[in-house]
Amino acid sequence: MTDAPASPTPDESDVQDVPAGVTARRGPLRAGQRVQIKDAKGRLNTITLLPGGEFHSYQGVLRHDDLIGGPEGVVVQNSSGHDYQVLRPLLNDFVLSMPRGATVVYPKDAGQIVQQADIFPGAVVVEAGVGSGALSMSLLRAVGDHGELHSYERRAEFAEVARGNVESFFGGEHPAWSIHLGDAQEEMLRVHAPHSVDRVVLDMLAPWECLDAVATVLAPGGVWLNYVATATQLSRVAEAIRESGTFTAVQANETLVRGWHLDGLAVRPDHRMVAHTGFLLTARRLATGEEALMLKKRSKVSEFKPEDVEAWQPSDESRWTPQALGERPVTDKKARKAAKEARLQARRARAAEQGVDPRTVGHDTDDQSR
Ligand SMILES: C[S@@+](CC[C@H](N)C(=O)[O-])C[C@H]1O[C@@H](n2cnc3c(N)ncnc32)[C@H](O)[C@@H]1O
Repeated sequence: MTDAPASPTPDESDVQDVPAGVTARRGPLRAGQRVQIKDAKGRLNTITLLPGGEFHSYQGVLRHDDLIGGPEGVVVQNSSGHDYQVLRPLLNDFVLSMPRGATVVYPKDAGQIVQQADIFPGAVVVEAGVGSGALSMSLLRAVGDHGELHSYERRAEFAEVARGNVESFFGGEHPAWSIHLGDAQEEMLRVHAPHSVDRVVLDMLAPWECLDAVATVLAPGGVWLNYVATATQLSRVAEAIRESGTFTAVQANETLVRGWHLDGLAVRPDHRMVAHTGFLLTARRLATGEEALMLKKRSKVSEFKPEDVEAWQPSDESRWTPQALGERPVTDKKARKAAKEARLQARRARAAEQGVDPRTVGHDTDDQSR
């Protein structure tokens, strides 16, 4: 690698009001930062750059020192002359390679959520649960440094995974972010004054349990977006919202993204794709006391018997378990392991921001105090 480090702006670490995360995304590669390295066979690895560090594969050894201080977008050779392409992970890549507790919102859905929930710079946004923090990162980017994102999570280990991931991605704490531990439906009522929140985004098993709380905190006209994995959850939350009479404009959709194979004349859709992730359902808060406008041309409501509804939406709450809805349970042990890894990556990213040698940053010295 011979290029001088290409920094498109002056040294941004000296500039006070650089938006959160910018220094981690441009300029020369720094020790403590994560990079993606891809070999000629397309194999991808994400590594944290450490002074004196080495990436070992059966093809030889790649020295981290050959990358630190240089630009991204380079092709470097390892000890045996094999080429590696080096890039910083984009948000999409970062989300797919970061430590996980709960299942993450995939990038294709995060983009739609930001758009359909109309998340704007400066907005006050409530999110629950925070899980691994994947969606939080997209929401934080959209609200910006002067917005507020309040993320609620009932499992402490997941909150730790999310905190580590978000700090690792932004290179430190994000000024717009607060995590609140506890059940969203109770905590958001404690934290927010009535009608003071612009947008609510829920990614959880039973969003209908939050209906009263969301109706209380959301401002008139505010958007409530639910991300759910199954059609039964979608139907239940839609009916609960309609029945409450406090929302309007209930809409649902899903997004399928089909990649394309581009190779000379062989230009066609990929053979495989992710067929299903989740459904998005949005609704708008009515002003208090207003009734939703009834369209004159209403679709004929289909007739159904109570047992049909019971089959589709059992009234016995104990049947709405994560397992029944196809969720894989995450053990405390697995969550703790992901939290530990996320915290380490966050410390290293912060060290990179501060110009501190990330090797001096070890595992879990201050874990319990945070
Ligand atoms: C699928 S995960 C969220 C993933 C997250 N959106 C992401 O992109 O990483 C669902 C999370 O909601 C949390 N949760 C479920 N019900 C909750 C509630 N009532 N209040 C707070 N958190 C809740 C769970 O503990 C879990 O961490």
